[in-house]
Amino acid sequence: MSDRAPAVTPSRTAAVIPAAGRGVRLGPGAPKALRALGGTPMLVHAVRAMAASRAVSLVVVVAPPDGAAEVRALLDDHPLSGHDRAEVLVVPGGGTRQESVRLGLAALPADVTTVLVHDAARPLVPVDTVDAVITAVREGAPAVVPALPLADTVKQVEPRTGAAEGEPELVTGTPERALLRAVQTPQGFDRRTLDAAHEKFADSAGEGATDDAGMVERLGAPVVLVPGHEEAFKVTRPLDLVLAEAVLARRRANDGF
Ligand code: C5P
Repeated sequence: MSDRAPAVTPSRTAAVIPAAGRGVRLGPGAPKALRALGGTPMLVHAVRAMAASRAVSLVVVVAPPDGAAEVRALLDDHPLSGHDRAEVLVVPGGGTRQESVRLGLAALPADVTTVLVHDAARPLVPVDTVDAVITAVREGAPAVVPALPLADTVKQVEPRTGAAEGEPELVTGTPERALLRAVQTPQGFDRRTLDAAHEKFADSAGEGATDDAGMVERLGAPVVLVPGHEEAFKVTRPLDLVLAEAVLARRRANDGF
């Protein structure tokens, strides 16, 4: 029997930011995460949004497979402010979002027990949303997702196989809108649960999983939603850039810049 005090179990929260997408829907140009918003690359906004949470002590950025050095240099050019003391690592990503997240998780040290996965393409998520997700994980939920009710009604269709772009599609159903939610990031996880999901469900052919919480559902573990935020929208199409610039301009005006 040892008379030493029991070892304190170390516990850290880290954020993985998949930023390896090409962003083709945004139009031609640099990879999406490197495009500027308010003069600052989208990825830098996303890193700052994670580091703004006092709970987050490590941010792992998953860069395009051949772009890790460029992303490292970009982040070094835009250091975090004095309040945000998170460490920032950069690792090369893969061909799908799922693969990129898996590579980010593989870079986490052993003492990380809570992990956030956050799209670089959601640069403006407010810190209160980040903190709400972390709190729910720390209170025992294995997977936590910020979500909002839908504005649009959603139709289910017969998948169009081989039909020309723009051809009419046959509607097969209309899910009740009140039962649907649009999910955002950061999604928060008990680290072991997310690791287990990525181990069990290897990246399949095609797009892979576009949502980490969906992989945890397949594992059979409960996933819960917390309120999302309208400013956590994903910058996907050109009009989203206009909206993002407007949100930044409003923040600057409110901050008295
Ligand atoms: O393509 P989508 O908008 O779903 O991408 C969501 C996030 O996943 C983006 O931040 C994108 O950079 C990232 N991603 C990635 N690796 C890929 C594809 C997408 O890290 N191969």
